[in-house]
Amino acid sequence: MKKYILALDQGTTSSRAILFDREGQLCGCAAQEFPQHFPHPGWVEHDPLDIWNSQLAVARQVLREQHIDPHQILAIGIANQRETTVVWDRKTGVPVAPAIVWQDRRTAELCDALRADGKAKKITDISGLELDAYFSATKLKWLLDHVPGARQKAERGELAFGTVDSWLVYKLSGQHVTDVSNAARTMLFNIHLMRWDYDLLHLFGIPEAVLPQVVSSSEEVGHTHPGLFGAAIPVAGIAGDQQAATFGQACHRPGMVKNTYGTGCFMLMHLGRQPVASHNRLLTTVGWRIDGETDYLLEGSVFMGGATVQWLRDGLGIIQSSAEVEALAASVPDSDGVFMVPAFVGLGAPHWDAYARGALFGLSRGSTRAHIARAALEAIAYQSAELMTAMQKDAAIPLTEVRADGGAARNDLLMQFQADLLGVPVVRPRVTETTALGAAYLAGLAVGFWDTQEEIAAQWTCQRRFDPAMGSDQRAARMARWSQAIDRSRNWQS
Ligand code: G3P
Repeated sequence: MKKYILALDQGTTSSRAILFDREGQLCGCAAQEFPQHFPHPGWVEHDPLDIWNSQLAVARQVLREQHIDPHQILAIGIANQRETTVVWDRKTGVPVAPAIVWQDRRTAELCDALRADGKAKKITDISGLELDAYFSATKLKWLLDHVPGARQKAERGELAFGTVDSWLVYKLSGQHVTDVSNAARTMLFNIHLMRWDYDLLHLFGIPEAVLPQVVSSSEEVGHTHPGLFGAAIPVAGIAGDQQAATFGQACHRPGMVKNTYGTGCFMLMHLGRQPVASHNRLLTTVGWRIDGETDYLLEGSVFMGGATVQWLRDGLGIIQSSAEVEALAASVPDSDGVFMVPAFVGLGAPHWDAYARGALFGLSRGSTRAHIARAALEAIAYQSAELMTAMQKDAAIPLTEVRADGGAARNDLLMQFQADLLGVPVVRPRVTETTALGAAYLAGLAVGFWDTQEEIAAQWTCQRRFDPAMGSDQRAARMARWSQAIDRSRNWQS
């Protein structure tokens, strides 16, 4: 009977389950969007049970549709939206509150207070992260401070905290763990010593008793409850989705770069075995830990990537489905001077401005929905270009290409414009579900489905390469205009 690895890719807006065979071929996929909740401006919540139920449903669906017996699944690998914070009762398994999503800005003022108190440098030195509401620490503190009785229960060891990987592993197997790549996004983890950091726990007022056990990214951490799939399948790989995508893109060597066009956009560069600090407001983060060796990454995080297109669909209603955006944007030769800054939840790297808000500039009487769609796509590329500029400054060696993946990487117009703005080729692999593929590889390595990282890297193949076609003067002029738009969207305090 043919064997597979089942990858669970729990993203911000959808849960996906994808089957891979030994050749790294995608053999079946099921996906489901789930509800987003915006109870106040700047707040973003998920129901942890929606996360779990949609994830379980698509996992079962893909097995059913592909006629796969659960015994054919050698292992499960998990890739997940990172930083999103879940707290549940250890005895009942019931979440005590909605999950606070990584995009949520409710703790921006708490971050300001810590900054004013001179804590930012220490936090960055230990965790590799910028002091920002993006990460889990202030979200967890908020939950402990605002859910009645939560802090006392947490101190008594009655509550469990986890990012989405922990929550899923708990629901799948009953274990309370997180892998190093997710731990590194909590702002409570020392990336140099690779353990929870007591100073940071103290600084954020987090009781140690809520924390999950930290595990490697590629090891068996438990088995699924037999009632879920009809077999006890090992859960053997865990990584934050961006680290998983970097692994799936086979960016295993220093200097290799990938950019994922998901809900947000995340550009990551492999750093090697040492956590090199950024001088350009990028993040230093753990990539993965395999067989006792840790690989580190440099990351630029943009909060609104594909979600900008989702807003055109759901917020503005100028397209019916996300797939329509390419044709609409391509129906005009350019944006005719329209710029969109999609700072709907503030700005991430390299600006880190929680108070920036979305804006449209350059509208004229001739502006149409097509120009706005084009400006939205271009904004995704402009934001990524800013990450690349920061990364170039930090990198010891010149960056020669960017490997692209994620839903919007299928958009040729966007990929070409991206290459034009970056000035280096953008390369799209055969499998663009690289996040899931990375999780599958991590799980498969742990159970001997694949033996080495070299074997995995050999499976990476290019589907299409986009070469830059824009002159450097035009590129510089466009980036200067973009910077102007960014400046005007900043500090929009409500
Ligand atoms: O850090 C947030 C990131 O993990 C979200 O990823 O794929 O949902 O955009 P995605």
